[in-house]
Amino acid sequence: MMIDVERYTPSFDEGSREVLVALFDFAACERPDGSRYGIASGKQCRKGREVDIENASWEYLTKGNYGSVEIDRKQGLIRKTNIEGRDFGEHEAKLQKLMGDAGFSPKLHRASKDEIVMDLAPGKTIWKDYRPGEGEKGVRFNEKQANNAAKAVLFLHRKGFSHGDMHSLQWMVEGDKPMLLDFGLAKRAADDPRKAMQDWTKGAAFLNLNAIGGSAGEKIRDFVQRYKEAGPATTPIKQRVPRETKVAREYLAWIDSL
Ligand SMILES: Nc1ncnc2c1ncn2[C@@H]1O[C@H](COP(=O)(O)OP(=O)(O)O)[C@@H](O)[C@H]1O
Ligand SMILES: [Mg+2]
Repeated sequence: MMIDVERYTPSFDEGSREVLVALFDFAACERPDGSRYGIASGKQCRKGREVDIENASWEYLTKGNYGSVEIDRKQGLIRKTNIEGRDFGEHEAKLQKLMGDAGFSPKLHRASKDEIVMDLAPGKTIWKDYRPGEGEKGVRFNEKQANNAAKAVLFLHRKGFSHGDMHSLQWMVEGDKPMLLDFGLAKRAADDPRKAMQDWTKGAAFLNLNAIGGSAGEKIRDFVQRYKEAGPATTPIKQRVPRETKVAREYLAWIDSL
């Protein structure tokens, strides 16, 4: 449990000036392991900008589902932390390692139940930075990016996992090779084959499926088309296995055969 330790008055011996600015109007909080962190502009420990007060080189970057994402610009690192004793995704750290080693995601440095530390990926997410305010509409990977992103997704699926949270803030892009982020909702593909297909159907908003080359590109487009046509609404009520699940299973069988 997180507790409000005290109202906190920053002083100049406690870190860099940047951090001190962030700490103005600040609630000091404690993690279950006794380490302390701060919430800037917050009266409570559970809401607001989270700031690390024990290691001033970590700067708050963004708030995650279950914690915060912090950046160490000097070392070029990103760290995800969780709050209120919540857990990371079941497969999150393991897949970060797997995908990082394969060059499809930022490389993992260390992971524990409290933090996941990885390389800072170069570039930007396509949604926030390329078309502010326009959502995913009209934003697409170029041809090389699309092909490399497809390799990343196929690799993950072949290793038996679905990403499970495919959207345009889950990729950092600079140059030809987008980096896939965030395995927090990844699941074993066999447990729900539809999730793997949904990585494509949801990713279709920006992955530029038409640009994916070769027979793999054709196959992916074909599966996406058939999966969309086989939506739950088109499955007769009495049919035990929904048509879309069948298409998704067929997709996984194809992946296994590659
Ligand atoms: N390794 C990284 N390099 C650069 N930016 C990152 C990295 N990891 C996360 N981010 C940034 O933080 C955001 C949230 O990270 P993410 O892992 O998706 O957390 P959450 O599980 O909260 O969605 C990303 O959209 C991206 O902007
Ligand atoms: Mg995310």
